[in-house]
Amino acid sequence: MNIDLSGRVSIVTGAASGIGKGIAAGLAKSKSDVVIADINIDGANETADELAKEYGVRAIGVKMDVTDKSGIEQAVGEIVGKLGRIDILVNNAGIAPSYSLVDFPEDKWDLTIAINLKGYFLVAQAVVRQMLKQGEGGNIINISSKTGVRGSSDNSAYNASKFGVIGLAQGWAREFAKHNIRVNSVLPGNVLRGSGIWNEEYIKAAARKYGIQPEEVEDHYNKQVPLGRQCEVEDIANMVVYLVSDYASYITGCSHLVDGGQEMR
Ligand SMILES: NC(=O)c1ccc[n+]([C@@H]2O[C@H](COP(=O)([O-])OP(=O)(O)OC[C@H]3O[C@@H](n4cnc5c(N)ncnc54)[C@H](O)[C@@H]3O)[C@@H](O)[C@H]2O)c1
Repeated sequence: MNIDLSGRVSIVTGAASGIGKGIAAGLAKSKSDVVIADINIDGANETADELAKEYGVRAIGVKMDVTDKSGIEQAVGEIVGKLGRIDILVNNAGIAPSYSLVDFPEDKWDLTIAINLKGYFLVAQAVVRQMLKQGEGGNIINISSKTGVRGSSDNSAYNASKFGVIGLAQGWAREFAKHNIRVNSVLPGNVLRGSGIWNEEYIKAAARKYGIQPEEVEDHYNKQVPLGRQCEVEDIANMVVYLVSDYASYITGCSHLVDGGQEMR
């Protein structure tokens, strides 16, 4: 499928690394200008430079902490000042602290909900105001997870946030359909390669959970996937690019699993 997004401006939050970076690359490859919005401004600038060079689009890094409402509004103003408009938002920035319910620290719960759930709300609020001003529709993608349809153990806050963003997407899809703003959720499988979430500590926690060694964790997850391989950032990027394109002009309010058949719903 030859998807051409030229003339459109996309913001991807948390795009300095991992899935967000892969999505930004997919959008840039399809000729969308891209904004790499991340709390890690050095990483964001690096990614932006890479994508501009590789795909010949306008790509900028913007410092954005998705928990900071006034900072988000300022960043959105800066983006519109530099690139003129916003057509696509991918809410992706997220963290995943893993603890049993009985040990879960309250501050980690609060931070996870602030980034993974309220952060999606705050960024969408600022961006949709801009889309409504433009009056030409738009697209929002909430990156949830397969954990958004089946909770995993030792993941209270993550589970709540990933189920929650699906609800946000459905409500926004209904609310803004009349403005041709489509809103969908994408639910990735396990993406270990390139992900900051799958750091040494997280892999150790997963190993403890399943009573296996850390080096066995990757294989443990791959074995649950009917298509028999790990999910890659490109798999997620392909789904996002399709959903924001005109090929998907009749699709809104839906949850799209990209998990090699692991959940099948
Ligand atoms: N990796 C997986 O297996 C997997 C599976 C399903 C869903 N997801 C989801 O994909 C998204 C990206 O995860 P990833 O695996 O690429 O992780 P990652 O750690 O590589 O990327 C997360 C990015 O978010 C940024 N970030 C963190 N806090 C922020 C804040 N307050 N404001 C702005 N940016 C912030 C980080 O700097 C980082 O660049 C998350 O929402 C995650 O829940 C990941």
